[in-house]
Amino acid sequence: MAYAEVYAGWKADPEAFWMKAAQEIDWKKAPSHALNANKAPLYEWFSDGMVNTCWNAVDRHVEAGRGDQLAIIYDSPVTRTKQSITYAELRNRVASLAGALRAKGVEKGDRVLIYMPMVPEALEAMLACARLGAVHSVVFGGFASSELAVRIDDCKPRAIIAASCGVEPQRVIHYKPLLDGAIDMASHKPDFCVIFQRPQEVAKLIEGRDVNWHGFQYGTEPADCVPVAGNHPAYILYTSGTTGAPKGVVRPTGGHLVALNWTMKNIYNVGPGDVFWAASDVGWVVGHSYICYGPLIAGCTTVVFEGKPVGTPDAGTFWRVIAEHKVKSFFTAPTALRAIKRVDPKAELVGNHDLSAFKTLYLAGERADPDTINWAAAALKIPVIDHWWQTETGWAIAANPMGIEALPVKVGSPSVPMPGYDVHVLDEGGHPVAPGTLGAIAVKLPLPPGTLPTLWNADDRFKKSYLTTYPGFYETGDAGYIDEDGYLYIMARTDDVINVAGHRLSTGAMEEVLANHPDVAECAVIGVADALKGQSPLGFLCLNAGVTRDDADVIAECVKLMRDKIGPVADFKRALIISRLPKTRSGKILRATMVKIADSEPFKAPATIEDPAVLDEIRTALQTLGLAQQA
Ligand code: COA
Ligand code: AMP
Repeated sequence: MAYAEVYAGWKADPEAFWMKAAQEIDWKKAPSHALNANKAPLYEWFSDGMVNTCWNAVDRHVEAGRGDQLAIIYDSPVTRTKQSITYAELRNRVASLAGALRAKGVEKGDRVLIYMPMVPEALEAMLACARLGAVHSVVFGGFASSELAVRIDDCKPRAIIAASCGVEPQRVIHYKPLLDGAIDMASHKPDFCVIFQRPQEVAKLIEGRDVNWHGFQYGTEPADCVPVAGNHPAYILYTSGTTGAPKGVVRPTGGHLVALNWTMKNIYNVGPGDVFWAASDVGWVVGHSYICYGPLIAGCTTVVFEGKPVGTPDAGTFWRVIAEHKVKSFFTAPTALRAIKRVDPKAELVGNHDLSAFKTLYLAGERADPDTINWAAAALKIPVIDHWWQTETGWAIAANPMGIEALPVKVGSPSVPMPGYDVHVLDEGGHPVAPGTLGAIAVKLPLPPGTLPTLWNADDRFKKSYLTTYPGFYETGDAGYIDEDGYLYIMARTDDVINVAGHRLSTGAMEEVLANHPDVAECAVIGVADALKGQSPLGFLCLNAGVTRDDADVIAECVKLMRDKIGPVADFKRALIISRLPKTRSGKILRATMVKIADSEPFKAPATIEDPAVLDEIRTALQTLGLAQQA
């Protein structure tokens, strides 16, 4: 069947479409229906089914006789380690870990926070939670203690599972002191912490609170899978919102299983036994959906890669991993390819590897610029597929569904909406715009299975953030247009989210940090175009009257403050001191105008600007950084 037929089939009868897709999941009790609209505009899927995620991702493949197939390949150039884990081994390891967690009191519905780098144990920790029906919340290793503390206080975990350290190319990240600091800062205290000691750094355990990963499993009974209701939360994943407080995106169990399973076959064109690799991190949604759950639910082999696209040891690492492990579908962020292209512009390192098993390259996480797509397509001679999605949705809103039909690629577009998503482009009044016209991208409710039903303990914030601007629609926060052929183009965010090296960050959260510096009276943070990372944060600081300190000292302190408060992932390295911020007469800071000046784009100062002269000061300041080259 062709894409158009599949999409039309879904639109004609969504209930039948999703009930059919649900048949590929092993239910303890099959759901009687797909959609539950009782609490509209909050929607649920498969609410009356009973199911277990770990069973579907692990045990059922062993029961089907594929216990000897590899479930996980761990390839870590930063520690020079490789390891393979079969489905049978994975089941035993996860059952043992889950049993030990249960012995210490973790039960269905309890939250467990996971703070781990890219090691197989991170997936095992997620799956052990799923086995018990506990709700995990994984936090990315590049966040600082205070960000971790905010998440601890929001999800109130009974337990925390962490590694002793992470390994970046140039340094060891001391996870344990970051964790201890976060627990000190948080009001909520976990009952216990499980520490996975890595050989690169053995952490000091706190007696009475911390237990050792291996030691605490000794002598405990392995746990069986605990069935949960289809609408039971599988996990919470925090993401940047419009204010400093991160949003706890909730992922529902039943819809997550059904939707991810559907995507593996229909979008990524892989099935049992195929090797699938997403080069992301378990701390991001890509890591949840496509390093851990998606490939395992579909019975693939997933690659856990601990390294960088360049420098570990060279720009051929990705091609080496793909060749060595016979990866069929590979998913990465455009930034990673730009990093490789910068070092190996002629893609000479590709030729050193046998990439015959490699069929399709998938890109997401940020806008895929045509240069990068064309470079990769020419170097690899396979289709390069851009697709668009968000932490909130958990799977692609728009893609080129290679398992259904390879649609013509239009460079610059993530192609077409997937079944489940009725995508519209709206003007400010919420009216649909003509093809080719820029507007806010919104998805008609209900969103499909697997997408967020709400935010953790925050129904009102969920409604206010996503459902209020355009009643009857989910507001994606992205702006763009749809062309005459129904292809989508994602152009910009409509809020303060910026995308730095495929990492989603909030400039509002950064402004909150800068405002806390004692010498800063007012500030603004914008994302300026960056050839490698897509965007890069830049701060503007107005200092209190009477501050006579060296500008460079204040800036250095602000850079350090950001690293301490948000973490190295913020990548905040530059700030400028100016006398005042450009504002409208009603006091709104003109961030969009500042971005245009920085990126040397044409702009028109709004008629409501308080004092146009301030824009000249900004341009001059930006030029000291090599930005704002044209008027
Ligand atoms: N734990 C701790 N610190 C981390 C971290 C982690 N898991 N990941 C990154 N950091 C740190 C880095 O060490 C760096 O610190 P520094 O300022 O001391 O150098 C900082 O966070 C910024 O990291 P990053 O954005 O990764 O920049 P980089 O210069 O180290 O690498 C790229 C540049 C392009 C190679 C890298 O950004 C990359 O691989 N990007 C692709 C990201 C991706 O796949 N995103 C997909 C999300 S879906
Ligand atoms: P995250 O929640 O971290 O996955 O970030 C989601 C945001 O990243 C989206 O709302 C977009 O702004 C951006 N994004 C993700 N994929 C794409 C894409 N293929 N093209 C353009 N922007 C994208």
